[in-house]
Amino acid sequence: MKDIREQFLADLAKAGTPRDVEEVRVRYLGRKGSITTLAKTTDFSKLSPDEKRQFGQQLNDLKRLAEEEIARAAEAVKDMAGRASQAKTAPKLDLTVPGTGHSVGCLHPITLVQMELERIFQGMGFMVLTGPEVEVEHYNFDSLNIPSDHPARDMQDTFWLTNGMLMRTHTSANQVRALERFGAPMRAIFPGRCFRYEAIDASHENTFYQLEGLLVDRGISVANLIAVMKALLSQVFHRDVTVRLRPGFFPFVEPGFELDLQCVLCGGQGCSTCGDGWIELIPCGLVHPRVLEYGGIDTSVFSGFAFGLGLTRLAMMKFGVPDIRLFNSGDVRFYEQFPAAV
Ligand code: PHE
Repeated sequence: MKDIREQFLADLAKAGTPRDVEEVRVRYLGRKGSITTLAKTTDFSKLSPDEKRQFGQQLNDLKRLAEEEIARAAEAVKDMAGRASQAKTAPKLDLTVPGTGHSVGCLHPITLVQMELERIFQGMGFMVLTGPEVEVEHYNFDSLNIPSDHPARDMQDTFWLTNGMLMRTHTSANQVRALERFGAPMRAIFPGRCFRYEAIDASHENTFYQLEGLLVDRGISVANLIAVMKALLSQVFHRDVTVRLRPGFFPFVEPGFELDLQCVLCGGQGCSTCGDGWIELIPCGLVHPRVLEYGGIDTSVFSGFAFGLGLTRLAMMKFGVPDIRLFNSGDVRFYEQFPAAV
C-alpha cells in the first residue's frame, strides 16, 4: 500500500495536462486500477479482525487521498490549460510595458520663420493680411505700374489660367488690394505663397514664399524704411545688424533699392555663405505715386514704403538650408529638424 501511495503521488506530480491526470486516475482508481485491484484481491478472510479494520481503514484513506489529490490536480491543470490557450489566442496584455510613443507633429521651417516675423511686425503695429494666390492681372501687374508690354513681366513669368487669371508672382499683388480696402494711414504685412515659371534647381523654385510689407502715412521717407528694416533684422538674427542700400529697379517703387545685410556669419569679412561680406536680402523702396493712386490714396498727403522679403530665402539663411528643393519635398525628416521656438 505504501509503494502504491508513493508511486501514485510521483505519477500525479508529473501530470501536466487534464489528460495526464485522467490517465493517473484510471491507472489507480479505474476498474483495473492498482488501488481498486488491491481492494478486490485482498483476501480479508485470512486477516484477524484487528488487521481487517486496520487494513480496511488504510485502504479507505489511500482511496480518499487519491481521489482528493486527483480532484485538486485536475483543477490545477484545468486552470493552466485555460491560461495557456488564452495566451495563444488573446493579445497579451502587460500593463507594465511602457506605452508606444506618439510622434508629435512639427511646424514647417517656413511657417516658423513666418510666425516669428508676424510677431515682430505686430509689435510694430502692422496688420497681418493675406490675399488670393490665384490673382487677376490688375493686382499682380497693372496696378503695380507693370503694363502688359513691360519687360518686368518677362522676369516674372508665371502660370496662366485659361480664364485669364494667373498664379500671383509676388505678394506685392496685395498692395493695391489693401489700399483700396483700408485706405491711409495703414501698415500691414502679407505673408504668402508665390509662383513663377522657373526651372528648378538648388536655389530656384516655382513655388516659394514671400512676406510683403506696406506702410503708408504722412511724411514717410527712406529713413523710416531703413529704421524698420534694421529693427526687423536685428530681432530675426538676435544682434545688431548693418545694412546698406543699393539702387534696384521695380516699377512699383521710386526710388527702389536692394537692401543688403552685412553677413552675420563672418561680420562682413567675406565667407562661403556671403561671398563679399554682404547678403542681398530685401528688395524695397518708396511706394510709386501711381500705385498709391490706383489704391485711391491722396499722394499730396501720403507717402509710403514697401518691401518684399523672401521668406524661403530667409529660412534658408536662418537655418543654413543648402537646397531650396527640400522645403517642398514633403520629407518629414527634413521638417523635423527645426526647433519650434526660433
Ligand atoms: N515684388 C518684388 C519681387 O517679388 C519685390 C519687391 C516688393 C520690391 C516690394 C520692392 C517693393 O521681386
